[in-house]
Amino acid sequence: MNVLILGAGGREHALAWKIEQSPKTDQLFVAPGNAGTRNLGTNLPVDLNDFKAIGMLVVEKDIDMVVIGPEVPLVNGISDYFLADKILKNIPVIGPVKAGAMLEGSKDFAKAFMKKYGIPTASFKTFSSENLEEGFAFLEQLNPPYVLKADGLAAGKGVLIINDLKTAKEELSAMISGGKFGEASAKVVIEEFLDGTELSVFVLTDGNTYKLLPEAKDYKRIGEGDTGLNTGGMGSGSPVSFANEEFMEKVESRIIRPTINGLRSEGITYKGFIFFGLINVDGNPMVIEYNCRMGDPEAESVIPRIHSDLLDLFIAVGNSRLADEKIEFDDRCAAAIMLVSAGYPGKYETGKKISGIENLSNCILFHAGTATDIENDSVKTSGGRVIAVTAYGQTMDEALKNAYSTVETIDFEGKYYRKDIGFDLRGEE
Ligand code: AMP
Ligand code: GLY
Repeated sequence: MNVLILGAGGREHALAWKIEQSPKTDQLFVAPGNAGTRNLGTNLPVDLNDFKAIGMLVVEKDIDMVVIGPEVPLVNGISDYFLADKILKNIPVIGPVKAGAMLEGSKDFAKAFMKKYGIPTASFKTFSSENLEEGFAFLEQLNPPYVLKADGLAAGKGVLIINDLKTAKEELSAMISGGKFGEASAKVVIEEFLDGTELSVFVLTDGNTYKLLPEAKDYKRIGEGDTGLNTGGMGSGSPVSFANEEFMEKVESRIIRPTINGLRSEGITYKGFIFFGLINVDGNPMVIEYNCRMGDPEAESVIPRIHSDLLDLFIAVGNSRLADEKIEFDDRCAAAIMLVSAGYPGKYETGKKISGIENLSNCILFHAGTATDIENDSVKTSGGRVIAVTAYGQTMDEALKNAYSTVETIDFEGKYYRKDIGFDLRGEE
């Protein structure tokens, strides 16, 4: 089969790494890809929101399956575009139709969906310019901290957690007037603050049944001890020690199954990944958010722990035969440490030569913001998050040691990484 993966980050490199290992893969294309995916297949320059151009590529390159990495094309309806086309409708797309992607594309939709299907989540209300005053009154009834969420996609930045009421009211006005996140915050969800430990849970579904993937934890803040600005993610680890059988049974019965059944009841045929951003509140899982894709950098520790052929699973998703498949995991732990550019998540420089990435034996590198410097036959930085270093271990401690020993041998000007990834996952395995 010829497979096209859309995206350019560490998640897409991890997907490409796994799919390339399938005996069923003939040609692998990644669009636009990065310097890492270039070693596994062919990178194709394309705008991820130019569905017409993507459709033409699929025909031209004789592609048999399309796997979508990021959320934006899904929320913009790439799967619907394929389904509406005479030729493209026969090409399976791993990624939901727009109606399903709304689980991530609209917080208001996701919250209403959870309410309707009895899925545990923080209590909430949604406000717009029409009822801003009611929003202020609602804030007055809540205890701090106040959680304000832009309804639409805001590149992971649309959630504000605020300690004082006056600022919360000011921010609510700024969000709704469009000054803060543009159209994405024309509607704002205000919700109860939940106190607990977060984790990321993933399933692959064909719309009827699902396969649970290994769970993970990601580390979103730039600074050690979970301090400082939010980033796209500074590292991840899988498994998560507190996600034991009892906890995961609650996740499946209270959250995953009602979500899959709810989507079916809504008449949505969801084919792809569902990422449940969960919080463990006194042993009880609650949903913080849904995403319609794999996590990044979670994919960099989760995908290496899938032992089964991922392409076989994707084929089964396309055929709606996922129930016939088995999924097996690698029992080892995996840790991914993200190397980032100095200044990230603020302003940073790119074009820095990366050294020490050849012939590494005890880890896997998943490139994110890298580009090939053809003139100098080398790899240079091209983004804030540059490379994830993933390693296995019999314990999380060992996985982290293996990853960190390689982290030190890779270099580029301004390299920064968190030294405490997995700090809360150690020592319990
Ligand atoms: P989201 O984009 O919805 O994942 O929110 C970003 C981050 O804000 C989450 O990863 C949580 O750390 C935090 N957060 C969101 N909603 C809540 C909530 N209701 N209570 C506590 N923290 C939250
Ligand atoms: N790691 C969080 C995300 O992918 O949204």
